[in-house]
Amino acid sequence: MVNAEERLERLARRLNKSKSKRKAKGNSMWNFQNKIILFTLVLFIIGVIAWTLLWLFIVQAENKDALYFVGLFRVSNIEFLPEYRQKESREFLSVTQNVNTTTGFIFVSAFSNNNNGGLLVHFWIVFVVPQAKGQVFCEDCVAAILKDSIQTSITNRTSVGSLQGLAVDMDSIVLSGTNCIYDLYADQLHQQFPLDISATSERMLCYFKLIALLGHLIRLSIVSIQIEADNCITDSVIIYDSLMPIKSKILYRICEPTDSLITFVSTNNLMLVTFKSTQIKKLKEVHGYFEVIPQESISAKGSAGFEGRITSPYFPSFYPPKCICTWNFQTPQKSLGIALKFHNYTISEKSIKGCEHGWWKINEHMYCGYYIDHQTIFHVASFAVNIELRCSSKISEKPLLVEYGSYNISQPCPLGYFKCSTGLCIQQAQRCDGTNDCFDESDELFCAVSKQNCNASLLIQHKSLTCNGINDCEDGRDEKNCTQSVPCNNNTFKCSNSTCIRKQNAKCDGAVDCLDGSDESCGSGKYSNTNHRIVGGSDTQEGEWPWQVSLHFVGVSYCGASVISKEWLLSAAHCFEGNRLSDPRSWTAHLGMRVQGNAKFVSTVRRIVVHEYYNSRNYDYDIALLQLSTPWPDTLRRVIHPICVPPLVHKARSGEKCWVTGWGQKQETGDDGSIILQKAEVEIVDQTLCHSTYGLITTRMLCAGVMSGKRDGCKGDSGGPLSCRSKGNGKWFLAGIVSWGYGCGRPNFPGVYTRVSNFALWIHKYVPSVL
Ligand code: ARG
Repeated sequence: MVNAEERLERLARRLNKSKSKRKAKGNSMWNFQNKIILFTLVLFIIGVIAWTLLWLFIVQAENKDALYFVGLFRVSNIEFLPEYRQKESREFLSVTQNVNTTTGFIFVSAFSNNNNGGLLVHFWIVFVVPQAKGQVFCEDCVAAILKDSIQTSITNRTSVGSLQGLAVDMDSIVLSGTNCIYDLYADQLHQQFPLDISATSERMLCYFKLIALLGHLIRLSIVSIQIEADNCITDSVIIYDSLMPIKSKILYRICEPTDSLITFVSTNNLMLVTFKSTQIKKLKEVHGYFEVIPQESISAKGSAGFEGRITSPYFPSFYPPKCICTWNFQTPQKSLGIALKFHNYTISEKSIKGCEHGWWKINEHMYCGYYIDHQTIFHVASFAVNIELRCSSKISEKPLLVEYGSYNISQPCPLGYFKCSTGLCIQQAQRCDGTNDCFDESDELFCAVSKQNCNASLLIQHKSLTCNGINDCEDGRDEKNCTQSVPCNNNTFKCSNSTCIRKQNAKCDGAVDCLDGSDESCGSGKYSNTNHRIVGGSDTQEGEWPWQVSLHFVGVSYCGASVISKEWLLSAAHCFEGNRLSDPRSWTAHLGMRVQGNAKFVSTVRRIVVHEYYNSRNYDYDIALLQLSTPWPDTLRRVIHPICVPPLVHKARSGEKCWVTGWGQKQETGDDGSIILQKAEVEIVDQTLCHSTYGLITTRMLCAGVMSGKRDGCKGDSGGPLSCRSKGNGKWFLAGIVSWGYGCGRPNFPGVYTRVSNFALWIHKYVPSVL
């Protein structure tokens, strides 16, 4: 038994031994394999890390962007020395060193003199940032870093910091970010230095610093500009009267493409041109050149001459702000006075409000100047005349040309002559002949309507009026002698492409029958002559005024407008006055709408074109074009339809019945505006009569209303249409744009409208499809 037990035990021990032996052998095998695996794994991980780092490095290096900041500050305890112009001069280096050693990160680029004392230090800073972050120029952040580095050495709590003995005016620090800067020097007189810019990448903002010889000025000539036309939102070219883009130093902003030469002059030897281009889908470029010109003595410009011309400083360039010019005239006889013929400009007695476009003092009387589209003559009944012009605009102004001569004070107009409002004399026969002989149109203003006609030169000038199938002239002379025979008979309608369609189911029925759409191009509306008596106005019907638009400013109904094409609306300039109202991004246009909020089509506004001669003081040239971001679709043509723009020669007849429409106030006071589109029938009022009530009614204005009052447009209707129906072709045309009035619906004070026919060519310039 024992033996058997012993044997069993030995066997068990042997078994255990061989097991642990095998275990030991197995362990050593595992270690070897693992080592290889581990090694491979480590190698792999190292590879991945190295690759990632390499990739990151390459990608990062590729996508980094340099952001430049240009800046300016004033050092109050140093005055400008001519030596500061030379970058190698001891003076330049010494000031530069002081700035650099203290801040360590800003680079001085130039010094200039400051009119109110001290030295202006121009510098730049560059930051390299990943492109993915987008080019956000945090000007405030950089200014804070800079101020911090200066403030460390502030000793007292004033706004003056210290940079190694330089007294830095902390409030003068300005910074601006850009992604490219160029310093361009004009160091020789009588030489043109080219300025050619083109957009090479998306979101470009480039600064072109123009630096001229000290004591001289820069004249910049813009030859052509190709940019997106949308009120400087996507693209812009801005010209500054300094090396920094400071708002108060803007000389001019160009927001539209141009190919006519315009020139600007700086008030010192520095100028900055900024070029912003948001996308490069289209070609964006600027071509021009700049020159050094000597300073003209603009403070005293005397003229002892008797017949000749006087001009604004640096004529024919735009003249820079801050000018004073004086002229003295003396006629050879006391009986002669001085007549001044202003080109595209007029002056009128200054009121309490300031002048925007030139302030004039003529023999101690004050006047304000305005740009207009024709000449005016001003008579000064004195043999000795003293004239002073002060530039009153903050930006550069269009050049001014004034011719002068003498006239007989006691008898300005001999027998058989007509005296214009300006004092000029013209032959009686020249009155009411359709030409503007008085230059201020006063000879054409108070004519009996039937007398007006089309003269030959006008028809030659505007070829689109002749042989267009429409009697633009009262006597039909524009349609006489047309070589092309009219192929359609009385029962048919001739489309613009000369095909004929059956009249009764074609013209103005709301459906396009002509292949070119000319049967429906404008002015058809399903007007219903309801017998609602209008006290102020009555509700309109659906689709009755398909050209009526409601313009909403930041979501609130603010003005009216009229559809004149697929993407253009016509409204009043005064709706877009000021910085906020002139920004197209704040507006939406509601089309095909009767009840507020129920528009069939809503679009944002891409561009607002306010007439260049709009005068905010008397509402002259109160007209603006709006381009929609999205044209209204053809599918809505039954509810949205353009109104016709009357031709230039069209004359509104007094007594003619037209309609004013809008969502404006129903009463002069205490009303919020209407929810439903209102209409009121009004009558064109005789211009002479209107003139006698209101005083100055220019030829760009038209009066309409009822003399008893009551029916009128009111606040909120501005920009909306005064629609008249042509007796000839039954089409609706836009005779006027709601502009202004004394109160609303007051007896003897009719509404004043912008006379649209006057602007036919101006509209055609932007909307060629119209006319
Ligand atoms: N200016 C006003 C507006 O902004 C329109 C005034 C029209 N007044 C008149 N009596 N028709 O809405």
